[in-house]
Parts: sequence; C-alpha cells; structure tokens
Amino acid sequence: MAVIAVTGSASGIGAAVCQQLAEQGHQIIGIDRNANDKFTRIAADLASPQGRSAAIEHVQTLADGKLSALVCCAGVGVTAPDAALITSVNYFGVTELVDGLKASIVSNGNPAVVIIGSVAAVAQLATPHEMVETMLAGDEAKTRELALQANAPQHSYAASKYAVTCWARQQAAKQAATGLRINVIAPGAVETPLHQASKEDPRFGEAVKKFVAPIGRAGQPKEIASAVAFLLSAQASFITGSVLFVDGGMDAMVRSRYF
Ligand code: NAI
Repeated sequence: MAVIAVTGSASGIGAAVCQQLAEQGHQIIGIDRNANDKFTRIAADLASPQGRSAAIEHVQTLADGKLSALVCCAGVGVTAPDAALITSVNYFGVTELVDGLKASIVSNGNPAVVIIGSVAAVAQLATPHEMVETMLAGDEAKTRELALQANAPQHSYAASKYAVTCWARQQAAKQAATGLRINVIAPGAVETPLHQASKEDPRFGEAVKKFVAPIGRAGQPKEIASAVAFLLSAQASFITGSVLFVDGGMDAMVRSRYF
C-alpha cells in the first residue's frame, strides 16, 4: 500500500483516479478547491502560490513521511473565467507541486509522478507562443500578462499543456538517477464536467463536438485512471519521461508520422 496525493480529486478524471487507487488498497490524499467529497482531504486553490504552498505543507503533514506518488489531475479548460487562470492552474499548479513534493516522494519505494496533459498540447506545435517560454522559465507574472493580452483561452490551454509536458520530460531526465519516474498522460476527449462545459460553449462547442476520435466515442474517466494506475505501478519501472496518449486514436489520426 502506498500513500498517493492526487490533485483535482473532486471531479472527473481525478475522482476516478482516487477511486481506482483506493480500490487497489492505496491511501489517498486528495486535493481540490473544496474538501467535501470522500477523497478530498485538502482544500487548496492551486491557482495561487499561497494555495500551492499550503497544499504542499498539508500533504506533508498528512503523509507523515510516507508519500510515494503524486498524480496531478487538477486543471481548467477553455471555459475558465480568464485565459491567465488556465496557465496558473494547468502549468504552475503542477510544476510547483511536483517541485515541492519530489524530495518527500523519492524517500519512499517506487517513487512516481503522473501528470495529466492533453492531446491538445500538440496543437501548440502549430501555434507557437511566447507563453511556452515564459512558463518554462518559471515566470508566472509574465505568462499571465501574455495570456490576458492574447485573450485566447484555446491557446492558453494548448500552451499550458505543451509546456507542462516539456517540463515533465526535462524533469524526468534530471530526476531519473534518484529513482523518481515522471510520466505524462495525454487524454483525448473524456466525459467529465470540463468536457461537457467545452461542448456547451458558444465559442468552441461546435469544434469540440466535431473532433471525434477514430474509436468513435469519448473516453470514460476510469479509462484514464487505469493508465495512471499502470504508470504508478512497479510494472512500469522502466518507463519515465513518456507521454502516453489515451485518446481513442486521436493523435495517431492527426499526427501519424510524429512520435
Ligand atoms: P473536471 O473539471 O471534472 O475536474 C477538474 C478538477 O480540478 C475539479 O475538481 C476542479 O475543482 C479542480 N481544480 C480546478 N482548478 C483548481 C484549482 N485552482 N485548485 C484546485 N483544484 C482545482 O475536469 P477533468 O476533465 O477531470 O480534467 C482533469 C484533467 O484532465 C485536467 O488537467 C484537464 O485539462 C485534463 N484533460 C481533460 C480532458 C477531457 O476531455 N475531460 C481531455 C484532456 C485533458
């Protein structure tokens, strides 16, 4: 049994991850904006540096030296109230948590981090944006300024997921000698409140509905949770720095020659 922290534990993919890992006998420390469900034990706003520090401190107290994994699911989509919030939660809400907890994680057996990216990260390849550089440089203030100026939530979203995936791969290479494995899952459309809100959005709804994976349906949160459980397990002991597309064939359809 491992002690595993999961952000975004109150809904969608994060809730399914908590459920599946708990069924495997692991102890879950869920983190979300409000702690009023069975897995969320820490209420913290990962959009702010203060919220992230409080979350890190609280996880360390609850884990009592036994934390061996972190799963970063918390995220906001294109319907977020503003484009800067997307970068704060999806990029800095991940990187600061991993940075703050990695020393605790490596002191236990089979240390691992899984980050939920997105198949949308590859859209960033078509629309390069300065925001990716400011995120990778760790400059949240400048990133937020650029995001607000551009006021294009779809670009903030793709840039945040692309940057967090690049960061994860850089960290995976740096941390490998310590034993810490860091991997990214890139889901396609998954039936969650976030996806539902995108489908209903007057700006993006039509495009989101048309973007159907070759498999012919959207994914279920538990299908992402199964991939998370595998990447955290000892069976994945040689896998680090990978991006696993769990997307019903979407990436294969759009970019078959890039891998
Ligand atoms: P969801 O909206 O069901 O769950 C997201 C959770 O993150 C919520 O419980 C929310 O309260 C939490 N959260 C958001 N902002 C937060 C903050 N500032 N502080 C603390 N917690 C916060 O969404 P879903 O779909 O489960 O998304 C999970 C992850 O999967 C996200 O990173 C999303 O970008 C990613 N993803 C989702 C896809 C989909 O089609 N549903 C596709 C690709 C990626």
